[in-house]
Amino acid sequence: DKGGYKHFMAKEIAEQPQVISEAIGHYFGASGHEIRGLDNLSFDGVNRMVMVACGTAYYACVVAKYWIEKLAGIPVEVDVASEFRYREPPVGDDVIALFVSQSGETADTLAALRYCQGKAKKIVSVVNVAESSIARESDIALPILAGVEIGVASTKAFSCQLTVLLTLALEAARQRGTLSADRQADLVSALRGLPARLNIALDSEGVTEQISHELAEARDVLFLGRGQMYPLALEGALKLKEISYIHAEAYASGELKHGPIALIDPNVPVVVMAPRDALFDKTVSNMQEVMARGGKVLLVSDRKGIELAGDGIWRSIEMPGVEDLLAPILYAIPAQQLAYHTAVAKGTDVDQPRNLAKSVTVE
Ligand code: M6R
Repeated sequence: DKGGYKHFMAKEIAEQPQVISEAIGHYFGASGHEIRGLDNLSFDGVNRMVMVACGTAYYACVVAKYWIEKLAGIPVEVDVASEFRYREPPVGDDVIALFVSQSGETADTLAALRYCQGKAKKIVSVVNVAESSIARESDIALPILAGVEIGVASTKAFSCQLTVLLTLALEAARQRGTLSADRQADLVSALRGLPARLNIALDSEGVTEQISHELAEARDVLFLGRGQMYPLALEGALKLKEISYIHAEAYASGELKHGPIALIDPNVPVVVMAPRDALFDKTVSNMQEVMARGGKVLLVSDRKGIELAGDGIWRSIEMPGVEDLLAPILYAIPAQQLAYHTAVAKGTDVDQPRNLAKSVTVE
């Protein structure tokens, strides 16, 4: 049942404030700052984490790497499952191996998990389908509580994966003593305030839809982001190519002058994911390099960020302000809406894009 929406994807994008609230309720209760349900996940004696997944779930892992390293100081290695499984990487008993999968049935991710069995200290999974193979074969399976996701393009599962991975980062930091109780409490309060901000972000839909009509004319689109927003750029590009069939690439903003800047011309829109965090100024200077070469910048930032970026930008999508660490979850909304409306404008099959399956159970 599409609940009145034209596509499952639209419904699933709109459900995010609700399902994230439910995930927050599950892991933090109705009030307070204490984390629940992670008591049996000990970070004692853990020197490294490896995180393995495919597609959008892999990008969730890349965001989580920034969080876990920053908050808990544990080195994290992230890999796509198809590479990890055949590389025979060293995995010792000081390693937590973590697998992220919406379906819990992705063949490569499951094979990577099996490779780590008997080697890693703990096998942890972050899954949507609780009775899936990946969940069953893990020592600890953490539910993301996104509810059934039908659209082939993953949306609410991504933001729920991020919510659970942030919770895990907070728990690791708590156990390690790397985060003051005050900062922990502030972050949990900010997380509780996130669904309201997601609702505000959803309200930008009209603007995003208009821009999407113009984006639908492009043959190629670039996405840029820095730090924890780099994986969001990757996710925005994947979503766009998946359902609109427009060629889209993402780069870490700082990589621009190492090659991709050669692609810039007035026909290549450049989507810049830039919340006003510590790296904002750097991203603005990358944007200016794009504009100086006639590139069309679509800036996604908050009001002040858009103001600071100046007149030269082509289009902008305004996000509400948010605690820095939560920006990847919030900025997932415009990334998804852009892809969705561009695909609708092009008339492609949004929920069942060509050549793709919801669950990739063969390698
Ligand atoms: O079920 P999984 O999370 O393991 O699936 C992983 C990828 O196949 C999946 O995220 C894919 O990239 C989506 N179609 C992206 O929208």
